[in-house]
Amino acid sequence: MILKNALILENSTSEVKKADLRIESGRISEIGNIEGEGVDLSGKLIMPAFYNTHTHAAMTIMRGVSDDDPFDVWLFKKVLPIEDRLDGKKIYYGTILAMMEMASKGIAGFVDMYFFLDDVARAVKDFGMRALITRGLVDENGEDNGRLKENLNFAKKWGGKRLIKAGFGPHAPYSCSKEYLKRIADVARAENLPVHIHLYEASWEREKYDYREILKIFDGVKLIVAHAVQFKEDEIKDLAKENIFVSHNPTSNLKLGNGIAKVSKMLEKGVNVSLGTDGAASNNSLDIWHEMRLAALLQKKGDPESMKIHQALKMATEAGAKVLGINAGRIEIGMEADLVVIDLNKPHYMPIERLKSHIVHSGMSSDVFATMVAGKWVYYDGDFPNIDKEEVIKEFEKEYKLLMQGDGT
Ligand code: NI
Repeated sequence: MILKNALILENSTSEVKKADLRIESGRISEIGNIEGEGVDLSGKLIMPAFYNTHTHAAMTIMRGVSDDDPFDVWLFKKVLPIEDRLDGKKIYYGTILAMMEMASKGIAGFVDMYFFLDDVARAVKDFGMRALITRGLVDENGEDNGRLKENLNFAKKWGGKRLIKAGFGPHAPYSCSKEYLKRIADVARAENLPVHIHLYEASWEREKYDYREILKIFDGVKLIVAHAVQFKEDEIKDLAKENIFVSHNPTSNLKLGNGIAKVSKMLEKGVNVSLGTDGAASNNSLDIWHEMRLAALLQKKGDPESMKIHQALKMATEAGAKVLGINAGRIEIGMEADLVVIDLNKPHYMPIERLKSHIVHSGMSSDVFATMVAGKWVYYDGDFPNIDKEEVIKEFEKEYKLLMQGDGT
């Protein structure tokens, strides 16, 4: 496939230029002036796609369920009782709907933590997106009802593929015992798979455990840390490790009243920081474009120099690809063709010379014309080539109604 006549932004520090792209076997194989028939993308910009590094995709079925509650009420009183009534079908359609939203907003892949993993993986496969899928793990009195084993079996069956990868998802240090976290770390180490955990999201977590102990348990394991809001300035250095990846979720952190993570300090200290939306029950949209601008603006509080355009762009693209463990996030020969095509025919992209600034500070997800994953379109001009949009919406609404019939909250 040849993509012709578009402007391209190769990475967060390069300048916008005019070039065609050739894609072969899902990878970028040529950049420049390419002869031959191709897809005409004049008036558009092609850049590396976005990645959502922390979400619970199927929670789209709970969007708006608890908008004005504190974190503990949101989780224990509203979300958990509904989650008890979920089943594979609800999770399948909830995940497909999440991917429709993400793909239409330029996202090529996501890191998930949920359950009914076979249904999540089936949805991802049907849609054609990328995902690093982890099972939410909790234990009570040392008993996890087979969850870790289920997570491991899933990893063996579905993981290690080009589009689907697997990891382990201990929910949080307040919902898992230390012994259980150690067991999970041992299995992750033996299988060489990543671990995805909520850490220091709410302020009360600081009284429940010491983050140092948790990082020590997972020493040497690829650890995806969601939120990290409550880290103090002098503690940030402990996150600056090759195996640790912080997923910054600014909207969810604000909406649940948890605060603002010290992201510019993290970047200054060399921490790997990418962006996540969290689930639709706490955001409520799955829009990395929005997270990118919010992240930039929040860090500028008191110091406008603290978050540069290239840093915000990198968190949304290249840093996210690293979390998913894929060779993507930049337009370079040999890299996976995960791309977003943006329609520039809008007043907020003028003057066109300052395009990089506009992507971060005046562009929006509704400008996305197409999203490509490993060389294949998953969203193109309003359509999702791999699924029946009407059918998904009909089934999603049916499952939502069934779910809410038993709602006593
Ligand atoms: Ni979360």
